[in-house]
Formats: sequence, structure tokens, C-alpha cells
Amino acid sequence: MKLAIASLLACSAAAFAPSIQTSRSSTELYGRKPFISGNWKLNPQTKEEALKLGGDIAASITEDSPDADVALFVPYVFIESTMGVVGDKLSVGAEGVCPEGNGAFTGAISSSMLDSIGVKWALAGHSERRVIFKETDEYINSQCVKLIEQGMSVMLCIGESLAEFEQDLAGSVCAVQLKKGLKGVTKEQLSQVAIAYEPIWAIGTGKVATPEIANSVHATCRSIIADMYDDEAADSVRILYGGSVTPESVDELMSQPDIDGALVGGASLDSEKFARIINFQV
Ligand code: 13P
Repeated sequence: MKLAIASLLACSAAAFAPSIQTSRSSTELYGRKPFISGNWKLNPQTKEEALKLGGDIAASITEDSPDADVALFVPYVFIESTMGVVGDKLSVGAEGVCPEGNGAFTGAISSSMLDSIGVKWALAGHSERRVIFKETDEYINSQCVKLIEQGMSVMLCIGESLAEFEQDLAGSVCAVQLKKGLKGVTKEQLSQVAIAYEPIWAIGTGKVATPEIANSVHATCRSIIADMYDDEAADSVRILYGGSVTPESVDELMSQPDIDGALVGGASLDSEKFARIINFQV
């Protein structure tokens, strides 16, 4: 009888094993590799500072670090030299791209120029580009398509304003920006896309969205992707959170099932802070 109970317990333990599994983060469950990235924006001010920062950040990635992709989106002029100091520890991406191929577009940088120096990733749709530089969803879509056609990857940034958040429009804004931004992008090409949900009210304000709020918008984005493509696409696409991510907030954010990474502004300019973010603990 004792034996019977023991084997029953063993069986029920086995029966419970799948439910233990499903309590793992969905990032892990669906094989989405965590992705920690920094966006330097209009910083730092000199090449010397950029190389010091890039080198220090790369040095913080060790064999004990989480198995994650790490990228730095840096000003065009620092891309190549930063690549030189970070080696293969992380990838150095561009903060933008001109969707035109070539011609009379003074000041622009094309996807083939970036590709030719080994850049694999570029940002599109950052709220600062949308608001300050008046980039439209159509323009952002053409950036995404151009980068994908070039064989590169794009991090499409989306997110609502404070007024929209307060009117409970976060999901609707994300739906519009995802549908317009990814127009013409096929399910197969989605492997060249990561999404960064960055609520505008959380960018540079110190107001990080609570992990629950961020996760629920991420889950909504995933269901929008499922509607646009299918469940498989929704389960595999990586969705990063951005907006005042710090060493103090990263662990809880990364513990959320639908948060696969972080896009970090201010804290990516401080090598110690960004090192802690790269070495998040879940
Ligand atoms: P902060 O981390 O400074 O809020 O910036 C977020 C951001 O805009 C990253 O693209």
C-alpha cells in the first residue's frame, strides 16, 4: 500500500511536471532569446567617449551572463569604431535608415551603406523620430521593408502617448502602429523583426511602466501579431520593453512572460548600470 501511494505520488509529480513547465517565462518556453539593447540617441559627444563606453559595456558580458542577444544602437559616425572595440560580444546597430536606395537625399544613410560595413540591425519608428522628425507610419513601414529586403533586421518601436494611455488607447495605438509598420512584411520575414514597446510617457521620465502594465500591452501586441499572421508568429516574435529601464527595474520586467528584452536609453550611457541590465536576474 505504501508502495502504491509512493508510486501514485511519483505519478502525480510527473503529471504536474507540465504545469511546472508552463510557469516558466514564455520567453524561454517559446525559445525566444532574450534581447537587451541600448539606444545612445544623440550621445556621447566624442568618439573617445563612445569607444570607452562601448568597450566597458562589452567587458561586462562574461560567460556567466544570461544567454541573450545584446545590441547597441549608436550614432552613425560611431558605428564602425564601436564595432572595433566590442568585437563579437554584441552587435552594433544604426539608430535609423533612409528608405531610399541612393540619389539626391542629402544627409541620408542607406541600408546598403550600413550593410556594407557589417551592420545587422537598425531602429525604426522610435517615438522621437515620429514626434520630433515627423516620421510617419508609411515612412517607418518603408524603412522596415527596405532593411528586410537588404537582409538586415529591424527593431520596430511602437507606443502610446500619456493622453492615449489615460484614455485606455495603448492597445489601439499599438495595433495601428504594428499593422501600418509591418505592412507587406511576410510571416517568414518576421524573423528579421523585433518589436520594442516604448510608452512615450515612460521614455526619459523615470516613470517605468509597472511590469504588469508592460506585460499586458506586450500580450496585446502578441495577439495583434497573431491576428495579422498566426499563433506561431506571435509566439516567436520578440517584444522588448523600453522606457526608463534601470538596474532596479530590469529583473522584474524580464520575469514577465511576454517581455523578451529591453531597449534602454539613459541607462545605456552608464556602463555600470547597463552592465547590470545585461546581467539581469530572473
Ligand atoms: P530611457 O531608457 O532613457 O527612458 O529611453 C528609452 C528609449 O527611448 C530607448 O529607445
